[in-house]
Amino acid sequence: MLLLGGVMIAGMMTAPRIAAAKAEANLERVNALIARMTIEEKAGQLNLQNDPFRWRPEGVNPGDALNTDQAQTAADIKAGRIGALFNGVGAATTRLVQDMAVKESRLGIPLLFAADIIHGLKTTFPVPLGETASWDLDLAERTARAAAVEGGAAGVHQTYAPMVDVARDQRWGRVVEGAGEDVLLNRLFAIARTKGFQGDDLKDWSSLLACPKHFAAYGAAEAGMDYNSTDMSELELRSVYLPPFKAAFDAGALSTMSAFNDLNGVPASGNKWLLTDILRGEWGFAGFVVSDYTSEQELIAHGFAADGRDAARIALMAGVDMSMKSGLYMEHIPDLVASGDVPIERVDEAVRRVLMTKAALGLFENPYRGADVRTERRVHGSREHLALAREAGRKSIVMLKNDGDLLPLPKTGKTYALIGPFGADSADLFGPWSIFKDTKLAVSLEQGLRSALGAGASLTVTKGSDVEAPIAGGIEAAVAAAQAADVVLLAVGESTEMSAESKSRVDIGIPAAQLALAEAVAATGKPVVVILRNGRGMELAGAVKDAPALLVTWFLGSETGNAVADVLFGDHAPTGRLPVSFPHRSGQSPFYYAHKATGRPSKPTDREFTSKFREVPHTALYPFGHGLTYAPVSYSPVRLSADAMAWNGELTASVTLTNGGTREASEVVQLYIRDRTASITQPVRLLRHFKRVTVPAGGSVEVALPLKFEDLLFLGQDLKPTVEPGLFDVWLSPDAQAGEPVQFTLNR
Ligand code: NOJ
Repeated sequence: MLLLGGVMIAGMMTAPRIAAAKAEANLERVNALIARMTIEEKAGQLNLQNDPFRWRPEGVNPGDALNTDQAQTAADIKAGRIGALFNGVGAATTRLVQDMAVKESRLGIPLLFAADIIHGLKTTFPVPLGETASWDLDLAERTARAAAVEGGAAGVHQTYAPMVDVARDQRWGRVVEGAGEDVLLNRLFAIARTKGFQGDDLKDWSSLLACPKHFAAYGAAEAGMDYNSTDMSELELRSVYLPPFKAAFDAGALSTMSAFNDLNGVPASGNKWLLTDILRGEWGFAGFVVSDYTSEQELIAHGFAADGRDAARIALMAGVDMSMKSGLYMEHIPDLVASGDVPIERVDEAVRRVLMTKAALGLFENPYRGADVRTERRVHGSREHLALAREAGRKSIVMLKNDGDLLPLPKTGKTYALIGPFGADSADLFGPWSIFKDTKLAVSLEQGLRSALGAGASLTVTKGSDVEAPIAGGIEAAVAAAQAADVVLLAVGESTEMSAESKSRVDIGIPAAQLALAEAVAATGKPVVVILRNGRGMELAGAVKDAPALLVTWFLGSETGNAVADVLFGDHAPTGRLPVSFPHRSGQSPFYYAHKATGRPSKPTDREFTSKFREVPHTALYPFGHGLTYAPVSYSPVRLSADAMAWNGELTASVTLTNGGTREASEVVQLYIRDRTASITQPVRLLRHFKRVTVPAGGSVEVALPLKFEDLLFLGQDLKPTVEPGLFDVWLSPDAQAGEPVQFTLNR
């Protein structure tokens, strides 16, 4: 076995100098290794394949007969033809698989193990979109850390997360995987999650290499249809879609994934401008680029490459360092180099990036890192992680509506009917990308409610409908249950199947069968609390829209039922805020709050010849940033410390919040700006800062937020950051639609 990264004894050297010296030592050793590698071994380091050994929990054990796939992969690893495996986990088998590379391949280069650990491994945290509704960066960092601890113990080194694609079209199925529609939230959550996954030191066994994805503009797929083309100005790309990536890289992310989509006619996975000129040239990114699953092979289907050889050449030359799944790099790199179609220097560069990352992860010193069965047993689904999942769950819930203060509900003295396809369900609460979940760690709504209500609970549970189809007698049973109860808890929405990769929808509403159930139940006249399960901003209609109380609960993961019960019965007052708009109707898609004004801006009361659809106002039913709690909080008019800002100066915006209720309120004050006159038209509102504050029952607090010169930056016609003097609007408001702005001028 080959050992890299020997220790530099450095006397009085400072930490950055020690790190630089280590990197230098790594580089020397990596270069020495590259000098010994054959072209096949080099191609092998760039070849990433499915892990056929550890995709099942039990994995392969020493002495087990290997199936054909496993035997082929084992042979390839030993021949140095595979450098990394993905989507296998499990400490027990890590050593067995890693030994194939370390002990049985000529150069003993350790494998890199990657996995889609998107929102937890065994313990499942809320889906990223749901967690973003917490507007709590510390929470996001802590759940990513816990996921990394579980992943590290199971022998994983890299996670294909966070997804940092800004997602403004709720039809797109993958909205669920990211931080929603806003650039600032996407940037901040990209940083928090990257830090959480990578920890303080990549070498630590509990650190997972982060892989912000999908580079780039994947979230802008036309019509929200997955894998579709994207076409946008460079200005839009740089203003909206690239900043979250830059933020993640600045936070230390050392890998990224090239996207499936084509961007302005050039597929992202063959796009040199994106993958080399911007990523390396402008940003100085030092990690490696992995293609998305066969995305370099898909250059052929895009009509951008003639065949596999051509696709491999284009992707490699564009800047894709590692090929996921297709095998095209392994197959074609030797010949591409021999024929002079790809210079060996480019191959060496890609190999160097991969090996330097392996060295940064400490794999050369310890190829098995944290993989340890006892640690796995200790940390997988640990009490701490489940407590964190419950905390994250309840902080992710957004209360859209609470007419007549129906919520919170009393634990005693009332009878409840839990109705809907998600009431007793324990399979659909994890959400997409929970491939390694422990299904035993699943608290259904029913279980959560029963455990909150205690032994004397009066709770009936009736399915009423399947997710997308009626069930015989379902409505009748549900109506009878509703009639027999004081309050209906209606658990409706989307299944995992409706919200994930390749699960784009033309209609972002609740399926007709469930709407019919909702109508019938509401017709009993019983108060209805909607518990919505969803992976996107949705269209709410009929009895769901009209229910007096509405909770958005996304896919909350392992602790779903407990988290929902915490909020329903008031042990935790709702604190979540929407990270995506809920438009009135699907047909408004893409609807996002930070849209442009147009030359014919519309007001909700306008009728003709303004920029809107005939049927609904050009607004959201529930806007970005919206979320209620168990006390009404009112905002005073906004005050500014001055009505003009000096060039390079700063102002303070403040507001008085008053809690008119009897419970303490947690409020997220949001600072939005609008540049009234600029050489590039600016959004009607743009989030620049936010702050969570506590407002005591019956009391008031003053909240001051800084407004800085940098907050007024935008990209000008030359694509350079610019600030222009003139008039600006400022809001301090509870969401992206509320409040009245104050104005100030920026003087040069
Ligand atoms: C395809 C998805 O687009 C990507 O996000 C994921 O990481 C890979 N498959 C690997 O599973």
